[in-house]
Amino acid sequence: MSKITAAITGVQGYLPDYILTNEELSTFVDTSDEWIMTRTGIKERRIMKDGPSSDMAVGAVKGLLEKTNTKPEDVELVILATVTPDYPFPSTANVLCDKLGMKNAWGYDLIAACSGFIYALSTGAQFIETGRYKKVVVVGVDKMSSIIDYEDRTTCVIFGDGAGAVMLEPNEEGLGVQDFILRSDGSGREYLVQPAGGSLNPASAETVEKRMHFVRQEGKQVFKFAVTNMAEVSAEIMEKNNLTSESVDWLVPHQANLRIIDATAKRMGLPREKVMINIEKYGNTTAGTLPLCLWDYEKQLKKGDTLILSAFGGGFTWGAVYLKWAYNS
Ligand code: UT7
Repeated sequence: MSKITAAITGVQGYLPDYILTNEELSTFVDTSDEWIMTRTGIKERRIMKDGPSSDMAVGAVKGLLEKTNTKPEDVELVILATVTPDYPFPSTANVLCDKLGMKNAWGYDLIAACSGFIYALSTGAQFIETGRYKKVVVVGVDKMSSIIDYEDRTTCVIFGDGAGAVMLEPNEEGLGVQDFILRSDGSGREYLVQPAGGSLNPASAETVEKRMHFVRQEGKQVFKFAVTNMAEVSAEIMEKNNLTSESVDWLVPHQANLRIIDATAKRMGLPREKVMINIEKYGNTTAGTLPLCLWDYEKQLKKGDTLILSAFGGGFTWGAVYLKWAYNS
């Protein structure tokens, strides 16, 4: 019997309706469309006015189940990457399974910030490759608006809300996840962090007053690490697998900053036409960016295409996944 690989057999995204434009942002913080576009490439982002992250995950996974003709009770495992869970516990994966009637699935949340989706995808692939699981749902969802300080112009212009999900199933044609390189460095935690709400700084009147429940980022430091590490790990996975700029069909990069995306593509020798970019419309949706890219570009993907997914985020966490697309849509 040939080796079992874990293939993505469907992808679906969900975006809330409300569009927060650069123009609207500049009415309440000191910024401009020109600054945001030249520094980040973001034009607008989606904001979920009501409801938790699990509602966005429901939107994505409901569509995914329909699209892949999967009954909720046939899903065996749900891995959900997020930094904005509905609660500290129980997990948002549990809530999602309940809301969609995925009665036979177990699941858990995975925290790896902007690298959440590649961590979750690599993990989910292992359950398929062992032969033990046949249907694994991997979700990336974040309601960043729930932890963003809309008085802080250095962070509020960057982030948005959104969700994406993929179905992983066994494949015997050698398609799907081929390899991954995952990394982390906890010494980077001071540069991108939500300081309060955990056991270090439990919620108190003081933590609220000091605005410690909001994301804090030292943008320049994070940029420096992101630009180097995302480019290096993407080049490394190519070299490790004897891939060339010709044999890679698509770079699927985390959407944090167009300048980081361009630097990564350049290091890999890829032209812009081979790079998935939707940052202009959605901003940085943290764990949502990569599945939302796959969803936006799904119709352009062909069976057998070579994709490199690559991300960098808080932790620090970073990495790359090499996969072969498994279907024509
Ligand atoms: O996805 C997770 C990982 N995160 C990332 O990868 C983000 C990495 N970092 C970045 O993308 C960039 O550092 C930012 C987009 C966050 C900032 O861009 P930058 O080119 O590094 O700007 P900066 O922080 O060096 O700030 C330059 C200037 C400063 O003013 P002074 O000190 O030069 O007078 C800032 O105060 O721009 C000012 N500034 C703004 N001006 C208008 C900062 N934010 C804004 C703003 N509008 N929104």
